[in-house]
Amino acid sequence: MQLRTKVIFGNFIEELKKLNLEGRGLLCCRRGFKNGLEWLDLKTIRISPEPTLEDAERYWSNIEGESFDYVLAIGGGSVLDMAKVLAARMTNRGPIESFIGIERIHNPPKPLIEVPTTHGTGSEVTKYAVLRLTARGVKKSMVSEKICPKVAIVDPRLALGLPKELTIYTSIDAFCHNVEAYLTPLADPLVDLVCESGLRFFFDGIEEAIENKLEGREKLMLCSLLGGIAITNVQTTLIHALSHVLGGRYEIPHGMANSLFLRGFLEFYRGDEKFERLQRELGMNVMEELDAFYERHSLKRLSDFISEREAIEVAEKAFENRRLMEGGRRRPSEEDLKKIALTSF
Ligand SMILES: [Fe+2]
Repeated sequence: MQLRTKVIFGNFIEELKKLNLEGRGLLCCRRGFKNGLEWLDLKTIRISPEPTLEDAERYWSNIEGESFDYVLAIGGGSVLDMAKVLAARMTNRGPIESFIGIERIHNPPKPLIEVPTTHGTGSEVTKYAVLRLTARGVKKSMVSEKICPKVAIVDPRLALGLPKELTIYTSIDAFCHNVEAYLTPLADPLVDLVCESGLRFFFDGIEEAIENKLEGREKLMLCSLLGGIAITNVQTTLIHALSHVLGGRYEIPHGMANSLFLRGFLEFYRGDEKFERLQRELGMNVMEELDAFYERHSLKRLSDFISEREAIEVAEKAFENRRLMEGGRRRPSEEDLKKIALTSF
């Protein structure tokens, strides 16, 4: 197992000070985030949610003529991912689209410090950056060991106040990372431990996080971080293949898109030896627990967004993603994938 990122827990301002950052930095965030950072020489760029490739090029054209010594990202997954793209573009020439795919970055990006404010993507420790390609109606990933942040500062207080819906859906993204990674043939005993811990933190902390208690935020931040470590060593599979198409076509936020396929995915793995082991380790029937959770919080269904015909087309498109289709312990047929898509319909 590899962890290319130095992970620090603590008050992010105090921890940032200890890094002794020098020179001029690019700050990526959702809203202005100057409070408490006055001692740094920063240019701020605000990142929109679920950004597109065109957004990435636009952000780049706004800063192209300037030079930066590091990139600091404070925000949710979209902000953390875009910071990776911009840090990579600072040291690599060519259209950003050419970075999409596996190991397409040649030069190490500018040093990247990432501070998550939601608990979902685990992007602060991953080698992934996701962009929406509007013209093709799909989301694609830039995958490179080089874009793993140099430092991640985990400060669960930053997630306090996250609205209920965002809390639920970003947490489900973290859940999916842990369970998808666990159910890949590449998951070794250490990855298994990481994922089991991540899933325990989800079940232990999710209600407290929804109630906005700090203990719950801490557990979900850990769930997200562990999920990030897991997928950067292994990978995601079917849920993400489906949600990348759904999110690319219909602008449904990533965590929410994942939540629509999670139950179908677990149904597909029913009876799988390793999934059974996971349930024994966690001491619960995962599907029943999730069903109760979905019911309790009235989570959305796929039919709230698209028609059955459109859901089938999403599955057909997702099935073309060979890397994710072939990544899991079970390889689905196209019919299996349609069934997974329609489970939450
Ligand atoms: Fe994800």
